Amino acid sequence: MAEVVIVENAAAAGALVADEIVRLIATRPDAVLGLATGSTPLPVYEALHGRLAGTDVSQVRGFALDEYVGIDPKHPESYRSVITREVVEPLGLNPDQIHVPNGATAGIEHAGADYEAAIEAAGGVDLQILGIGTDGHIGFNEPGSSFASRTRVKTLTQQTREDNARFFDSIDQVPMHCMTQGLGTILQARHLVLLAFGDGKAQAVADAVEGPLTAMLPGSAIQLHPHATVVVDEAAASRL
Ligand code: GLP
Repeated sequence: MAEVVIVENAAAAGALVADEIVRLIATRPDAVLGLATGSTPLPVYEALHGRLAGTDVSQVRGFALDEYVGIDPKHPESYRSVITREVVEPLGLNPDQIHVPNGATAGIEHAGADYEAAIEAAGGVDLQILGIGTDGHIGFNEPGSSFASRTRVKTLTQQTREDNARFFDSIDQVPMHCMTQGLGTILQARHLVLLAFGDGKAQAVADAVEGPLTAMLPGSAIQLHPHATVVVDEAAASRL
């Protein structure tokens, strides 16, 4: 059962989660953070900016949840670029310690297993930040993803491509495929922190927190986790 924390707004959520991350890094300077993209985690990264000033973050490690397949990592909307721009540079993290699945490698069939091995070698993720898609996906685990799934290539749903078209010039430019940590991978992080804001996420939040455990609602996998925290505003909590 996930713990639900209802906060006034996204900035308050960002502050709450950033405080938790600062505490983690204070006790573990080489903490392993699970990084998420999308607009939802941005207040966390913004709040971390001030809070981590003056802290040695050179040992902090990070693993992104997912990446598009088939776009150049240098494309401004690749998740590699987004994580670099929104997290690594502003927080002064060591880029060599920050990993993003490689969706542009010729050996794509090995990339998932390689990523899993890198997470394992780091000792696993301490705190995984999660957003949630309007169709209930976490990472890019679209409906139908097995709770046991590992990092692999997936096909994006039309809904997700429409949701993410705002980052591209047109929906035609949104990649068809992605590489994402699996639900089984995500569930191995020691602490899950799922954030959601606005009434557009209310149904996905209700499904994740209270819905049946089903691959059709990938976010419902968090109910299996012994330490999951859901941080939402009133609007995103409105169907709980
Ligand atoms: C993308 C990401 C997810 C994210 C979701 C929601 O699909 N792969 O990790 O949770 O978008 O995005 P937003 O936070 O912008 O609503």
